[in-house]
Amino acid sequence: MLDFLRKLGCPKKPKEPKTRGGIRYSTYCRGVWNLISICVAAALLGGCKNRDNDGSQTRPSPEPRAKATLDLHDPSSCVACHPVIHREYSESMHARSHQKRDPIFAGVRAIRIKKEGPGIAKACARCHSPDAAAKPALNAGVTCFTCHNLRANAPAKTFIGPHTLDAGASAAHKLGPATAAFKDGRTLCLSCHDALKSPKGIAMCTTGPEHASMPARGSKTCVDCHMPRVAGPATIGKNRADHASHAFLGPHRAWYQNDPAFLATAVTLKATLTPGKLTLSVRNDSGHDFPTGFPGRLAVLSCRGLDATGKHTWTCAPIRFGKKYVDAADKPTLAPYAAKLASDTRLKGGATKTIVQTPPKTVVRVEVGLSMRLLPPPLAKKLKLSKSIESQPRRIAGAVATVAPTK
Ligand code: HEC
Ligand code: HEC
Ligand code: HEC
Ligand code: HEC
Ligand code: HEC
Repeated sequence: MLDFLRKLGCPKKPKEPKTRGGIRYSTYCRGVWNLISICVAAALLGGCKNRDNDGSQTRPSPEPRAKATLDLHDPSSCVACHPVIHREYSESMHARSHQKRDPIFAGVRAIRIKKEGPGIAKACARCHSPDAAAKPALNAGVTCFTCHNLRANAPAKTFIGPHTLDAGASAAHKLGPATAAFKDGRTLCLSCHDALKSPKGIAMCTTGPEHASMPARGSKTCVDCHMPRVAGPATIGKNRADHASHAFLGPHRAWYQNDPAFLATAVTLKATLTPGKLTLSVRNDSGHDFPTGFPGRLAVLSCRGLDATGKHTWTCAPIRFGKKYVDAADKPTLAPYAAKLASDTRLKGGATKTIVQTPPKTVVRVEVGLSMRLLPPPLAKKLKLSKSIESQPRRIAGAVATVAPTK
């Protein structure tokens, strides 16, 4: 049976819990195994492999053609009935998390394949494109199916959502009862966004633990911030006033949709100036450390001081919020190959950082800016992305401080 599955490109069922290549199988992987059951069902029905390629006429199928060709793994199958959600999803990084659609992921993946062998690609696919084997030509990332069929033993063609709906409410697919993983606004997300260690056991991504360690766990869930309620029904013909946005708001919107609004909600920046003393404060308003996620993210606070004539006479040393990984010889390296995390100057969840600077007393006005990078310039260079949009910084907050005029 397993050989049969492997021929179909289906992964082998994992024994849990298990570590392979340093990456822990998350509860998510049960969902992948569900996908396999469907692959089997589809194969038995002749769906995974076309048996009619000899051109001969087959007997008419008892099911209407249109219904038989509605591919539940393909997000574009959902457009007809869930058009707004589909449009939002198409802009999200979940729609772009496949290596063919995300140049940063593709670049790091290629480095890891070169160093660690092709087997590592499977480990990446578990979170970046778990449903891709169902239809490789789609280059699909995290699909509708990935999240909505994520329930151990969810029957084929059954979608689970936040509401308990009549099983036959949709002609296109079955519906099941809502599960806690959908209702708590967190469990589903943590199946991929919890924590990820390098092959050497060094922490790389820690969004889940960062959120959990916030005072009172942060009063908001992942879904509260990343899938806010927006106007309009989720389904054509249903008149609910609003639905959960499937744009999965995040930093990449500032680059790909030219929309830094969500990123700007991450921090509150303040500056006050008295002669010879500049006080900066940065408060983290997000639901985890800032910046969270991929270890290459970097935010930089910079300031320039002007004298009474408006001349730029002072620049502060830039203040960096990010991680630095080093190898055994203390040389900076990529997180997966690091011997240790040398420093982590990110803002902790819920924390405010106050920084005091000492400009010359002649400085009467200071302009402060906080900008973010998706990846540090040396990595951009290594991935040959230095000239691409992904390597440009984006400004996310600013403040101006002036010395109060003496009376
Ligand atoms: C022919 C129309 C149709 C198509 C095509 C369709 N759906 Fe649905 N879907 C519905 C209807 C109707 C409901 C029930 C909505 C309700 O009662 O609020 C529904 C409900 C859902 C729900 C449950 C939402 C909740 O509120 O809990 C999910 C999840 C879902 N669909 C996912 C999908 C996905 C994914 C696709 C594409 C692969 C898809 N649907 C394609 C008609 C459709
Ligand atoms: C199957 C795994 C998986 C699940 C489940 C999942 N994500 Fe993701 N998510 C990813 C991957 C992979 C990326 C990275 C895409 C990339 O940059 O290539 C991502 C990216 C994101 C981003 C970054 C967007 C940006 O613009 O930078 C946000 C925010 C996010 N996910 C939120 C969520 C939330 C909220 C949930 C739960 C409702 C969730 N994710 C569930 C795998 C998943
Ligand atoms: C990363 C996981 C993820 C992906 C991908 C995803 N969804 Fe959802 N979806 C959710 C979550 C979580 C909710 C419930 C949000 C909440 O708590 O209100 C939801 C809710 C829904 C609902 C009900 C909306 C409402 O507020 O009434 C529908 C319908 C739906 N999704 C369809 C889709 C379709 C169609 C796609 C693909 C185009 C898709 N989803 C992709 C996680 C996902
Ligand atoms: C209070 C609102 C809030 C909550 C709660 C929250 N986030 Fe975020 N999240 C943000 C903001 C703002 C950003 C942008 C700043 C950043 O990238 O750190 C962000 C960024 C992200 C990113 C992008 C990382 C990257 O650069 O690729 C991911 C992924 C993410 N959050 C996942 C989650 C998950 C998972 C949870 C729940 C465990 C969660 N967030 C809870 C507000 C929130
Ligand atoms: C446990 C789930 C998981 C696995 C396994 C995983 N990733 Fe990711 N990856 C994510 C999530 C979630 C994000 C996006 C949010 C964030 O930054 O945390 C992400 C983001 C990234 C990014 C940043 C992409 C961007 O657009 O900025 C790169 C690069 C990356 N992953 C590389 C890899 C490689 C290479 C592998 C395989 C060796 C891999 N990941 C395996 C979950 C995973």
